[in-house]
Amino acid sequence: MNIINFDIYKNLLKEKSGLVLTQEKSYLLESRLGPIAKKWNFATFDDMTRALQGVPDQKLVTDIVEAMTTNETFFFRDTRPFDLFKDVVLTKMKDARASQKRLRIWCAAASSGQEPYSIAMILKEAAAQFPGWKFEILATDISHEILAQARAGLYSQFEVQRGMPIQMLMKYFTQVDDKWKISDDVKSMIKYDYFNLLDPLTRLGRFDVVFCRNVLIYFDKDTKAKILDNIAGLLEKDGFLFLGGAETVLGLTNAFQPMKDQRGLYVHPDGPHNAANSAAGALA
Ligand SMILES: C[S@@+](CC[C@H](N)C(=O)[O-])C[C@H]1O[C@@H](n2cnc3c(N)ncnc32)[C@H](O)[C@@H]1O
Repeated sequence: MNIINFDIYKNLLKEKSGLVLTQEKSYLLESRLGPIAKKWNFATFDDMTRALQGVPDQKLVTDIVEAMTTNETFFFRDTRPFDLFKDVVLTKMKDARASQKRLRIWCAAASSGQEPYSIAMILKEAAAQFPGWKFEILATDISHEILAQARAGLYSQFEVQRGMPIQMLMKYFTQVDDKWKISDDVKSMIKYDYFNLLDPLTRLGRFDVVFCRNVLIYFDKDTKAKILDNIAGLLEKDGFLFLGGAETVLGLTNAFQPMKDQRGLYVHPDGPHNAANSAAGALA
């Protein structure tokens, strides 16, 4: 791909999704956008690039953005965040929300649903400890296509084998032909919606827990910082943020603090879970 074409796609992706495309990754453009050019009946790549200049068809822009997203995910990915959710977050929230009996969780880059379904299965397993509680999981993504897959809740043998304990598979899935289907009971705990993390977050309401994992890695420093500040604005003071293993808040924002001894879990610096505050509280 020539450098002019590359810059057109690079700028479009940065503006519409935050995705930073480096020259070394330009091969991804050709492999992922080939099928889009075909779908739109462009004879050549240059024809599609020309169609993006001026006032492009927004459906074409959406197709291009969606094709360039990386949707890699799996059930209980990295294990530890889900253990922390069960052992630290739920334990603390059980006391903190004892009177409201309500927990709002946002899965901010939900991909094909494995992450929100993993959260929902943990909540199901813990249900006996939370009688009368209402759990709400909002799962969002920028890709309509991947959200449709998440809503369908149908997974291949390979997908369910990646990270899913066998007893969870037996309990919460049924086999449909050569696929596995998540139970309606688990599915009904999740509301799926389109949401671009570059957009203002205010319409989403407030949350007790946010999972924003393995998506910030695709953005530049300023975009990461802005998204983290926005999340801080809608997370309750005693809430929790989960980031991916290769992501951090350090050097990006002061709106979050890594939770002491709990890798991957972040809290408000002036909230009750920051070790500095607990220490100050203990001394007072
Ligand atoms: C690698 S997946 C991570 C999925 C899951 N959170 C996990 O950790 O397994 C990244 C997801 O982020 C989504 N994404 C990329 N840019 C986005 C944006 N600007 N707003 C919302 N979602 C975005 C992609 O469509 C993709 O499904």
